Amino acid sequence: MRIGILGAGFIGRAVAQLALAAGHEVMLSNSRGPHTLFSVSSGIRGVKVGTAEDAAKFGELVLVAIPLAHYRSVPAQWLEGKTVMDANNYYPDRDGHIPELDRFETTTSRLLAEHLPGANVVKVFNAILAPDLTKDARAQGSPDRRALPVAADDHAAKAQVIRLLDEIGFDAVDAGGLDESWRFERAKPAYCIPLDKAGLKAALAQAERQVEVFEEWRHN
Ligand SMILES: NC(=O)c1ccc[n+]([C@@H]2O[C@H](COP(=O)([O-])OP(=O)(O)OC[C@H]3O[C@@H](n4cnc5c(N)ncnc54)[C@H](OP(=O)(O)O)[C@@H]3O)[C@@H](O)[C@H]2O)c1
Repeated sequence: MRIGILGAGFIGRAVAQLALAAGHEVMLSNSRGPHTLFSVSSGIRGVKVGTAEDAAKFGELVLVAIPLAHYRSVPAQWLEGKTVMDANNYYPDRDGHIPELDRFETTTSRLLAEHLPGANVVKVFNAILAPDLTKDARAQGSPDRRALPVAADDHAAKAQVIRLLDEIGFDAVDAGGLDESWRFERAKPAYCIPLDKAGLKAALAQAERQVEVFEEWRHN
């Protein structure tokens, strides 16, 4: 499968490495252009680089892994009918305040989906630290395999992403539709905690819409 990735930062590069290892073709992109990605392409064997538009056109499956503040720059016209994986999180200190998110009225992935009306957006890869992606990936059936939460409105797109997760080393827990994806956004119990399927289901169930949990939760 051809996977186009918008964002060549920590998450984009980690997913690229895992997807290449699983036999997929991958193109990474950033906002400044492929001439700034020389060290990335020489550091990840087999990866292609291009503009964000190139990566959106290239991908049968596309990952958006950029600071949330820039989600409106994602080139919607090339993503019609495609599955778009959304790894973005909301950090007001980085992204500026987005009042609907501050009021818990919407989700980060619903904002992206509204910008990409023709695409099937799947929330995934937002609730794992980038270094853990390569560190925690395990073969199918491994007893210590980590599970990642996935949310989407389109069942076929969700199933496609769950298959990809399985290929690259992770179990999945279906957390529902995009409007339920707040259950694993920043500062919820399932956010960036290594958990197996049962533990992740419990953490998703514990989440409360307007309650944020912080670092100390992780040590309990
Ligand atoms: N780091 C983590 O552990 C982690 C974990 C889960 C989720 N996330 C989320 O995933 C997203 C990416 O995080 P990151 O840590 O990978 O970020 P990062 O290391 O800061 O990299 C961001 C990348 O996005 C590119 N970019 C910015 N605007 C763009 C645009 N309009 N079009 C195409 N590319 C663009 C940047 O390219 P330029 O430098 O050329 O602008 C850069 O390559 C964020 O929303 C973050 O909250 C991060």
